[in-house]
Amino acid sequence: MSTPDGNAAPVNTTSKMDKLVALCRRRGFIFQSSEIYGGINGFWDYGPLGVELKRNLKEAWWRDIVRCAPNGPDGKPVDMVGLDCTIIMNRKVWEASGHASGFNDPMVDDRESKQRFRADQLFGLYVGPHTGDAVADRAALLAAIAAGTAPVITVIASTSGEAAEVLERQGKKFLKERNVPLQISEIAADFVLLKERGEPRTGLLAPVGADLLRLRPMEVPSPFTQKLAVLTEPRQFNLMFQTHTGAIQDESSMTYLRPETAQGIFANFRNVTDTSRVKIPFGIAQIGKAFRNEVTPRNFTFRSREFEQMEIEFFIHPSQAAEWYAFWRDSRFKWWQSIGLTSANLQLREHDRDELAHYAREGAGTSDIEYRFPFTAPGFGELEGVAHRTDFDLRQHAQFSGIGDKLKYFDQQRNERYFPHVIEPSAGADRGTLAVLCEAYHDDPARPSGVVMKFHPRMAPIKAAVFPLVDKDGMPEIAENIFNDLRKTWNVEMDVKQNIGKRYARMDEAGTPFCFTVDTQTLTDQTLTVRHRDTLAQERIAASQIRNFLAKKIDL
Ligand code: GAP
Repeated sequence: MSTPDGNAAPVNTTSKMDKLVALCRRRGFIFQSSEIYGGINGFWDYGPLGVELKRNLKEAWWRDIVRCAPNGPDGKPVDMVGLDCTIIMNRKVWEASGHASGFNDPMVDDRESKQRFRADQLFGLYVGPHTGDAVADRAALLAAIAAGTAPVITVIASTSGEAAEVLERQGKKFLKERNVPLQISEIAADFVLLKERGEPRTGLLAPVGADLLRLRPMEVPSPFTQKLAVLTEPRQFNLMFQTHTGAIQDESSMTYLRPETAQGIFANFRNVTDTSRVKIPFGIAQIGKAFRNEVTPRNFTFRSREFEQMEIEFFIHPSQAAEWYAFWRDSRFKWWQSIGLTSANLQLREHDRDELAHYAREGAGTSDIEYRFPFTAPGFGELEGVAHRTDFDLRQHAQFSGIGDKLKYFDQQRNERYFPHVIEPSAGADRGTLAVLCEAYHDDPARPSGVVMKFHPRMAPIKAAVFPLVDKDGMPEIAENIFNDLRKTWNVEMDVKQNIGKRYARMDEAGTPFCFTVDTQTLTDQTLTVRHRDTLAQERIAASQIRNFLAKKIDL
């Protein structure tokens, strides 16, 4: 069964997400920011394991993009340099980029509960007459919705699959608490069977749409309380955080925290071409924090107010756009696979023309690399966007800064001066980390921990653990020597406490790919057991070979 937004039938995956969030808290991957004060919505901290995981992701990106850039369409390594620029920039940057006037989300307020949500994330449950013929019902309902029918229940979600899950969790409670004479007897993402005074009726989950909210907000129930006549019309809300520089806080000292790292790259375009030997086609890459005052931060770290981006602006001659767009789209998709997102949960989706950003409409295309997160299933959520941004940004900065044609690039080979076009692969480090966590999570009732995190070895926060079987007979000393040698190169752990089963369980939850155990046999033949996390297979290897073994397995 498919949903109005084209998704397949839903799967109940909420519990997987709940378990993953609990594991992240329990094992120190991710904590709520300011937790001891009750937290702050949309901000997250990375604990001891999480910070290693996220660093591994960013370092893999930096290595594979900047230090050891991929081979381009001609088979030669692409030209790429790095940059690290400030979070606060001259605010004219944001006037030029269009963010000051256009970086808005349509926001709706619930006047009574004082809560806020994005108009485009409101899904409604529409109820139509029951004819016993699902197809006829669906068509009639869709026509009624198009004509402006109001929904009976609303929820906040990104896809109708997620809306069905939220409805399943919250819908029954809403109805019961408000004495609504409807009972949800069965819920799917598409059709919802309801009982009204004993009569079954069919319903449909669909986006409410800004038009209905604008024209008849009084008829749309609040997603928080299901009350009517409490919602405001949608208003445009700018997502940039404002701050002031210097001692005087007035309009003239106001500036913004950057909502993307990309503009720092464009603003430095001339500095980079003047000071390095890069020649078109070439790229500038940057990893850094970005801030967006999201109306409804949600789904763990997926939509946060402070997050990190890993962005490339790749500068090309306009005639090369199609070739380089296809190259980066495919190369970035393969990169996510190479760090362990190998399942069917990763997909590449080319945008339809009407989805494209204003600057990209005339270009070679835009595609998203998407992951099926448990909270988006059966739909997908964006991990990285690859867009042909044309020469929009450089032209804007040329105009707003007054530099004009001096921002053009002189192409010696073509003997031509022009504003280069840009292919932009823009990824989220936090969303990437979340996807890696989701992919790694495996329930395994056969293990003492009940769960194992199957991280790709390059991503694993702890690469190996070294255990003495018992805390005596010289075993801790041997283990310590091995540990001290390995830790010069990798993040490894030594653990002498508890029985060996419990130590393995801790490492399964941390996703450590290899555990080396020093036992009685080690004392006579200098071999150790290696336990492989995924297969649970054990083998013996010589202590002198451990470094080689790890180097081969980890730097895959
Ligand atoms: N320069 C282009 C740009 O910023 P974007 O699609 O708005 O494009 C790029 O953002 C990536 O940044 C997204 O694919 C996502 O991974 C990440 N991202 C965007 N907003 C985010 C948020 N609120 N929380 C976490 N990650 C976010």
